Amino acid sequence: MIRELSENFRPVAPPQIIEGAYSEDQHQRLLGVVREHGPWQLILAENFSTPEEVIATTSGALPEGVQLTWDMVMYPVFRGYLARAGVCYYPELEDCYYNSRFLSLVRDYWGCQYAEPETFLFNIQGATSIGGHPHLDGTVFRGMTMENTPLWLLMTMAKSCLFRRWQAKKGQVIAWYYQGKIGGGFNCWPDGPSGEPLQINAPMWGRAVVVENEMMFHHGQASGPVARRHPTGMDITSTFGADPEDPTGWQIKTFGKVNQKIPAEEMRFLVHWGARLFRDFDELKKTLDHTDDIDAETALNILIADMRERGIVFEEPGDPMNDRDFIRLVGQVYDIGGPTNIPPDAVDEQQVA
Ligand SMILES: [Fe+2]
Repeated sequence: MIRELSENFRPVAPPQIIEGAYSEDQHQRLLGVVREHGPWQLILAENFSTPEEVIATTSGALPEGVQLTWDMVMYPVFRGYLARAGVCYYPELEDCYYNSRFLSLVRDYWGCQYAEPETFLFNIQGATSIGGHPHLDGTVFRGMTMENTPLWLLMTMAKSCLFRRWQAKKGQVIAWYYQGKIGGGFNCWPDGPSGEPLQINAPMWGRAVVVENEMMFHHGQASGPVARRHPTGMDITSTFGADPEDPTGWQIKTFGKVNQKIPAEEMRFLVHWGARLFRDFDELKKTLDHTDDIDAETALNILIADMRERGIVFEEPGDPMNDRDFIRLVGQVYDIGGPTNIPPDAVDEQQVA
């Protein structure tokens, strides 16, 4: 573990809090799309198909003799995508995606001349426990992206801090709509993982933060009444959608059965807008013309040389991209840890009494 590397993870500028991220009309149209085009899948469903896989990537240890079920590892937050690359999926949200105000905010945040909208997605949930250990969002490099590179290599490249020259510059505007009284905010570590956490607390209605979440540890706070944070009977196929019996309510459903109903005032809605930035015309041209891309072979050679320099003894892998021992080794070497000073979870008064 190379803990000192984690101190490099500070955003390009302090998070900038804004209010009224979307107009009330935009917010209504966003919610309209969420109601009309759902139901939506669990975030967990994007990456996992069994509860064992979840444990393997989080705590790593399976309790002896225990039969794992989805209920034991479930994190009931759901996600939908509103755009990909330059394409907005819903014409009624084009002004939200091709958003001049947001483009200007992230350009100023970075001190960059050009920005291109990239990510547009939402998370939607009722009551949940804390959003896992603080994490960094995945990043990409000129020439190496999710399209051609496995996630473990992209993550290792980011954590090693050896590839900043090629790393994409990204900025996000993350907005929240949550009227609940318990938790539901956002914790982040703008001064590095050993610094003080910054808490952006709910209730929030269109409050947003301009950030660089690839370079700043962060996570969602627990939200809602403790007793409602673990709806039972869920599965990886569970969905979140509009409650047909309540014009503003929501429901979680599994195999055709309702697990939990969520009134509008308990629903937490996060809208994540992200852009890619280019410092100046030269950097934009270099990116679009691919004149300074990195490839997997170069990246792996840089990592291998760095590990040798750090005195790590290992056999030269013949096919590092598919060598499971090598992949495990880089995972261990570039495990950089993260914040340990996590603010206490918000719990409801009933639970405290
Ligand atoms: Fe994140």
